[in-house]
Amino acid sequence: MKTFTNILPLRNELKDARFSAAREGKSLRIALVPTMGYLHEGHASLLRKARAENDLVVLSIFVNPIQFGPNEDFERYPRDPEKDLALAEREGVDFVFMPSVEEMYPQPTRTHIKVEGLTDVLCGASRPGHFDGVTTVVGKLLHIVQPDRAYFGQKDAQQVAVIAQMVLDLNFDVEMIPCPIVREADGLALSSRNVYLSAEERQAALVLSRNLLAAQAKANTTESRVTAGELLTELRDAIGAEPLAVIDYVEIADFPGLSPLAADERLDAAGRRSDVLIAVAVKFGSTRLIDNVILTKKVND
Ligand code: PAF
Repeated sequence: MKTFTNILPLRNELKDARFSAAREGKSLRIALVPTMGYLHEGHASLLRKARAENDLVVLSIFVNPIQFGPNEDFERYPRDPEKDLALAEREGVDFVFMPSVEEMYPQPTRTHIKVEGLTDVLCGASRPGHFDGVTTVVGKLLHIVQPDRAYFGQKDAQQVAVIAQMVLDLNFDVEMIPCPIVREADGLALSSRNVYLSAEERQAALVLSRNLLAAQAKANTTESRVTAGELLTELRDAIGAEPLAVIDYVEIADFPGLSPLAADERLDAAGRRSDVLIAVAVKFGSTRLIDNVILTKKVND
């Protein structure tokens, strides 16, 4: 495994690898797994899939300042490069790219990628500018690495929708691979931010997965004939009943378009007309957690 902190040597090494493969008449499928580090089993699952499906796996670790708002947790975002490198090694990563802020943004960036519409709702409504920072850095990473495939966790479902739109609109030559949410045994969705939770907050946070998974199960029965309005009320009431939970949003939208569904729109397996995202963002103490389930038009298991 090779580690790079600068763009040029990484680019040169990737060029060499492509050139050597071409000389031998082989194609070289390159995967990029972009992360902000503090890696957990969710990231490991992306790396494993990337490893199984490609010839060369690049992991990027970069806590991207421009996707954090002024009052957000950029400074205290958890970092543990040594542990990250050990996990990367274990998962068979070939190249790790861990640039400094100065390497990625040698001067304040005047060019941003903004995906309109999809970024004003859900997390975009409470984190203005967040997705512009995400698409700008992912655009830069895709230019630097030029991967054939890029792997993203579905826990950030809105991020997946926004980046997929960017890839489509700007003709990035990359296949987006969304990967399922990985949960702890008790249901909590894995997140680097879980480390901020006290034991009491962590216990309270289970209200999210418990109710999201129950909503998914209910919608997936044909008999329920449940509507978006009914499910939304049930979810908001159940999460709101947890004393430590402060709701930012609980929403039901079509996926990946992210438009809210009419209250009378049927969500049951036989009635739904599109893939549907049920997404929540809830604060426990100072920690804002997100979680979601997706109801596919073709019934989920
Ligand atoms: O999902 C993340 O960790 C980040 O938003 C990403 C995609 C690495 C961009 O900084």
